[in-house]
Amino acid sequence: MPADLSPIDKAKFVAAKRASEFVESGMRVGLGTGSTAAWLVRCLGEMVREEGLRIRGVPTSARTAALARDVGIDVISLDEAKWLDLTIDGADEFDPELNLIKGGGGALLQEKIVATASDQMIVIADAAKEVANLGAFPLPVEVVPFGWQTTQALLSETLEAMDVMGREITLRMNGERPYVTDEGNYIVDLHLGRIGNARQLALILNQMPGVVENGLFVDICDRVIVGHGDGRIELR
Ligand code: 5RP
Repeated sequence: MPADLSPIDKAKFVAAKRASEFVESGMRVGLGTGSTAAWLVRCLGEMVREEGLRIRGVPTSARTAALARDVGIDVISLDEAKWLDLTIDGADEFDPELNLIKGGGGALLQEKIVATASDQMIVIADAAKEVANLGAFPLPVEVVPFGWQTTQALLSETLEAMDVMGREITLRMNGERPYVTDEGNYIVDLHLGRIGNARQLALILNQMPGVVENGLFVDICDRVIVGHGDGRIELR
């Protein structure tokens, strides 16, 4: 373990390290995005360089692709891989059914495509990500820039009609400008407070014109590895 890690980084590291034990030579592995997934990529890089692990990695963002190449992982596209044995990624929240909110790092679209194209998805998370109900973390929704304010208004009307608790919607910013995803889209964050029916909300959001994808991952995650600041690990 790297020296002098803060408790939160230690939690992320131990979860990532444990997840790396599920990776075997010959696998095509989806590589998630975010600070926890970055630990996983570094762990896998070390296994490639020092233990002869042979894997092909499909990154879920330009950031992860750059890191994976840096640490020595053979990077291929999803279309080259066609199908993946395993994806390992972080999450912003997970509930007892292992449904997730993702996209805090802005990579939800590629993350969902890659995870869905995998035999198995393992989430790695620090204990603070575990919740009884999804929704305290603002739900990211990727929208096309064209007419985004109209899409936002439509989202607002839809949430009102569904009678969800919180309805504040904010455009994610990068300084003075809108945050732009790897696919050239914007992200609006829905401050809902509590999501009653994640499956229904995910379906409704994706039916709206202008919405590209939402950050609810329902029935996609198979296992969560929870890391704690004292180095303990739990499997969900
Ligand atoms: C990126 C994500 C991340 O997995 C999520 O935001 C968790 O990030 P971190 O591991 O830095 O807490 O969904 O789009």
